[in-house]
Amino acid sequence: MRGDYLILAGVLLFVLVTTYYVVITGISPMPSSRTSRRKINEILNLAGVCAVVDLGAGWGDLAFSIAKAMPESETMAYELSPFPWLVMKVRNGLFGPRNVTVRRADFRKVSLAGTDAVVCYLYSELLEKVRHKLEAELKPGTLVVSNVFDIPGWTPEAVHKLYDSQCPQVYVYRVPDRTAAAVAAGVGLAG
Ligand SMILES: C[S@@+](CC[C@H](N)C(=O)[O-])C[C@H]1O[C@@H](n2cnc3c(N)ncnc32)[C@H](O)[C@@H]1O
Repeated sequence: MRGDYLILAGVLLFVLVTTYYVVITGISPMPSSRTSRRKINEILNLAGVCAVVDLGAGWGDLAFSIAKAMPESETMAYELSPFPWLVMKVRNGLFGPRNVTVRRADFRKVSLAGTDAVVCYLYSELLEKVRHKLEAELKPGTLVVSNVFDIPGWTPEAVHKLYDSQCPQVYVYRVPDRTAAAVAAGVGLAG
């Protein structure tokens, strides 16, 4: 009986904490689909990137698949919600891969300097805010791959349509050059 109550309390804690983080972040830890993960891996592989960051890594599906697809690369997986982060941490500890670092952090508060490529599965209102951070901290030309949602204010380099009802497209961007010279020349201004 005592065990039943413990399980019930655990489930309740999981639901309450996870719901709380869905409310504060505005998004659930829903993983990218297998089709979109495959497409994102293909894009990153073609670009030959080394240091990848997953902004909001959820349960780790995308970050782990990138790390497995590119064993020479290093993937940083940031996640704020405690249960998805814990699952990722345990998954990573038990099964690897070793080229993933799992960190519980608000990605808005960490430095992205030195990143070759950013991947995300967020939503457009949040991406509009994140865009300013990407412009401020990443080198112009850095690859940004957004699953499903576009980044308002940027023009995609490519949009890959997928036969997948959960993840119907993947947007590919390059961080625009917003230095004074580029602005004067009208380069990299996509909105
Ligand atoms: C839709 S899931 C994507 C999971 C994973 N990237 C994938 O594609 O499989 C979005 C995740 O972003 C996380 N998230 C949203 N805002 C965040 C923030 N500011 N810092 C860290 N994680 C955040 C949410 O908690 C959620 O787990």
